[in-house]
Amino acid sequence: MNEANNERPNPLLLKAKQARYFDELVDLFDQEQPPQIQANLREIVASAGIKPGDSVLDVGAGVGVLVPFIEKYGPARIVACEISPRMLERLREKYPRVEAHLADIGELDLPDSSIDVIFMNAVFPNLAEKQKVMANCSRMLAPNGRIVISHPEGRPFVERLREVVPFPLDPLPTFPKLRRLAKGLPLVLTLYQDRSDLYLAVLDKAPLDPRRPIGKR
Ligand SMILES: C[S@@+](CC[C@H](N)C(=O)[O-])C[C@H]1O[C@@H](n2cnc3c(N)ncnc32)[C@H](O)[C@@H]1O
Repeated sequence: MNEANNERPNPLLLKAKQARYFDELVDLFDQEQPPQIQANLREIVASAGIKPGDSVLDVGAGVGVLVPFIEKYGPARIVACEISPRMLERLREKYPRVEAHLADIGELDLPDSSIDVIFMNAVFPNLAEKQKVMANCSRMLAPNGRIVISHPEGRPFVERLREVVPFPLDPLPTFPKLRRLAKGLPLVLTLYQDRSDLYLAVLDKAPLDPRRPIGKR
């Protein structure tokens, strides 16, 4: 792990540092993906079961890599949330129909229960305040909505990235870590795949069972 990864700056500093870093990577992200990655992105989006008319939120959307895959399912609304102004500017140019918010996902202020599907593709390790993010996402999620946490190149790729990026990046969450993050929230982990080339976890919104002690969910 590089030196930067050993430090834990406060969340505001981490976000500012990441925004500057990703501002410089717009052209790198705005390239056609290799066929295997495209196949994985298709699998990731398929796992969400988007229905025509749904509202979909793409967290850390970058230049909108997921947008064309999401559009195939005919959602009524696609919302993008990003902290990098230049990433968001490119996304707006490419996909003017997408509602773009320059915001940290922990603070994104969409109404309660207004989103059917939330994607967090290649962004979960970047989030400094995961508990706050999960609580805010579960608040914005409609009943029976779902959160998809994914990486189209899998855990080994993220481990290599952790050695080279100039800010702390967490590993992709293990099954127990995800269960802990969902604890006390109306979320149930319904899919977990940790393949060498693809990471995919799905959490469904479900009412908390008052008879079930907290910690069993
Ligand atoms: C590795 S890129 C992935 C972009 C896109 N999801 C993709 O698959 O190409 C991670 C993105 O997440 C954004 N990001 C990082 N922390 C964020 C936060 N707290 N809220 C919203 N976006 C964030 C970064 O600015 C960056 O553009």
